[in-house]
Amino acid sequence: MADEPTVKLYLGDCLDILPTLGKVDAVVTDPPYGLSFPYHSYVDSRFNLIRLIRLVMPLLHEMADNVFVLCGPSQITLYPEPDWVAAITWNTTGSFGKYGYSQWTPLLCYGSDLDGFGNVNNVMKTDTLTINGGAGVGFQRTKDEKEHSCPKPLNMMQMIANRFTLPGCTVLDPFMGSGTTGVACVRTGRRFIGIEIDEDYFKIAQKRIAEAQAQLPLFPPSNNGLHLTAAPGGLWNNVDDSGAAAGEP
Ligand SMILES: C[S@@+](CC[C@H](N)C(=O)[O-])C[C@H]1O[C@@H](n2cnc3c(N)ncnc32)[C@H](O)[C@@H]1O
Repeated sequence: MADEPTVKLYLGDCLDILPTLGKVDAVVTDPPYGLSFPYHSYVDSRFNLIRLIRLVMPLLHEMADNVFVLCGPSQITLYPEPDWVAAITWNTTGSFGKYGYSQWTPLLCYGSDLDGFGNVNNVMKTDTLTINGGAGVGFQRTKDEKEHSCPKPLNMMQMIANRFTLPGCTVLDPFMGSGTTGVACVRTGRRFIGIEIDEDYFKIAQKRIAEAQAQLPLFPPSNNGLHLTAAPGGLWNNVDDSGAAAGEP
């Protein structure tokens, strides 16, 4: 385990890649919403979301005892019944109202909670978590986050990582988009496996996660543990620490 890379990123369809992976400690993910968001390649229809949920949830439950899924209020009933629902709230002057993404977002929780009362990993052990930032779109986005049509704020994903997973554990995000869950995992000391179907988003995630790793004093950029693995039909080869693809000089 100690020799395992701390991050593995896969470009491809998670429905193809998940069956090739082993067990992980937790899934933390933010699947599409079925709200016609203008993703580059995935068509964000409600029909496609229902199909995706039906196919992916059994795979995720097989891989992890603890699965945490962000969705909008209007998607809760599309998912299998969770063990409990946490809520993320924020102050905002804007609201997406009937589209189900107003001032709170549900986190569907499958599995058992971390042991203990009070604080866990410095986050209050409560079912309602509040992030700062807001106005207009509801939360502030960095320049990198704006490159994706539906990114999550980094402070939200860091809080979720700290509240629901333990340091050193392996977290999987099969719908990683621009890689916010991965950045949060790097910054909070979790191992990360990410999958994204769109090549442009994958490249953004790759860059953001590598930058987050480079910023950690314990992981200098020359040995940052980044390990890109070719997905079936994917474009990325194994990359060693020098940045050369396997088999290249
Ligand atoms: C809501 S976004 C995730 C955004 C992410 N949380 C972030 O902060 O950037 C959902 C992502 O799932 C990707 N996606 C859709 N279907 C997929 C599939 N079958 N396998 C892998 N990724 C998929 C979409 O391209 C999109 O980037």
